[in-house]
Amino acid sequence: MEAFPRRNGVLHAGEVQLDALADRFGTPLYVYDAAIIRDRYRQVTEAFAEARPLIAYSVKANGNLALLHLLAELGAGADIVSGGELYRATRAGVPGERIVFAGVGKTEAEIAAALEADILAFNVESVEELERIEATAARMGRVAGIAVRVNPDVLSPTPHEYTRTGHADTKFGVSLAETPALYRRAKASPHLEPVGIDMHIGSQITSPEPYARALAQTLTIVDALEREGIALKAFDLGGGFGVSYQGEPAMPLRALAELVIPPLRERGLWLILEPGRFLVAEAGILLTRVLAVKRGAAKRFVVTDGGMTELLRPSHYGGYHAIESVSDPDGTGAEQVDVVGPICETGDFLARDRTMPVPGVGELLAVRMAGAYGFTMASNYNARRRPAEVLVDGRRVTLIRERETFADLVRGEHIPEPDPT
Ligand code: LLP
Repeated sequence: MEAFPRRNGVLHAGEVQLDALADRFGTPLYVYDAAIIRDRYRQVTEAFAEARPLIAYSVKANGNLALLHLLAELGAGADIVSGGELYRATRAGVPGERIVFAGVGKTEAEIAAALEADILAFNVESVEELERIEATAARMGRVAGIAVRVNPDVLSPTPHEYTRTGHADTKFGVSLAETPALYRRAKASPHLEPVGIDMHIGSQITSPEPYARALAQTLTIVDALEREGIALKAFDLGGGFGVSYQGEPAMPLRALAELVIPPLRERGLWLILEPGRFLVAEAGILLTRVLAVKRGAAKRFVVTDGGMTELLRPSHYGGYHAIESVSDPDGTGAEQVDVVGPICETGDFLARDRTMPVPGVGELLAVRMAGAYGFTMASNYNARRRPAEVLVDGRRVTLIRERETFADLVRGEHIPEPDPT
């Protein structure tokens, strides 16, 4: 199913023209297509059907309540990394038994809230964290399900070093050597229950091969624990399934499933997956309007009303996002341009040295593949109001998040009273 197709020369979300949405809600604007999210969710469930996995959607990719609700209705769980994401997931109707809690620095308050919500498992990233979870569970008279996030020391070939998380140099996970001790400790505690084991090697991975290597490493621990009498139920493979930003092949999910399912089946392990990007990236587009087309001394700049505060990926990771005109795909002939935002930073761009038809002032541009790590990484820098978000489902249009107001920008700020002395 094609996302945001062009019909009669105009890009559409479902049955709705994107220019109509920009006129109605203003720009910059995030638009999501519910049908694409359903389709991508179906692709994952079908590829892994035999394993009947828990698909714990990674909330950090896009945490809007409407999208979380849509996914929860389809049967998804949630992979969360903060008290805020727990709040979002439970508000959207994700049951606790489908939530896993990752992240290298969980606070006691976050642990307590997750215990209160009866989550499936904490993905534990250090011995200190295991102790904190145990103490909190003991104080609350509860039993915490745990899975150690192992660091399998596999360097995953992602497009940027910041999105590789499975090798020994990163802050993530517990080394293979240290992992068994954490399980022994958990087994001995009446407040901890070892339910599974977890890994996550990186993001935007397009080949199954690094998963196979990391899986093999992690299974050596599972087998060693089994021999010691610590039997685990679940294997969390993490997320990271790559999508096609620039014509590269997306992760071949069936090939991945064929590698992963047999060794897990053999050991009676239940599969958990944590896809974020794969489910929502293509389902989102950022609409932005051209404010100026100017010629610098060395370059031509297309200045738009959206930039790094709305979509940080180009600036932060050198991420590529296709950009095209919503209703005038041919423009006035192609040229090499930088598409830049209005933020006062040279690093503020949506595209660099991009050969594309030069748009006119006032033209509406669509930045593709913006559904994942788009709005969630948006900021208020330069006192910019974070944009509105709209969900289209066929003909139905819902404003799922209002554009922030100036009052939102200063909410909670206080000027000190004059000193009376
Ligand atoms: N599970 C864990 C423990 C994670 O840390 C992540 C992503 C995921 C699952 C989901 O990964 P995905 O399926 O979405 O690739 N902001 C970066 C991506 C950072 C990913 C962080 N962790 C970007 O825009 O490329």
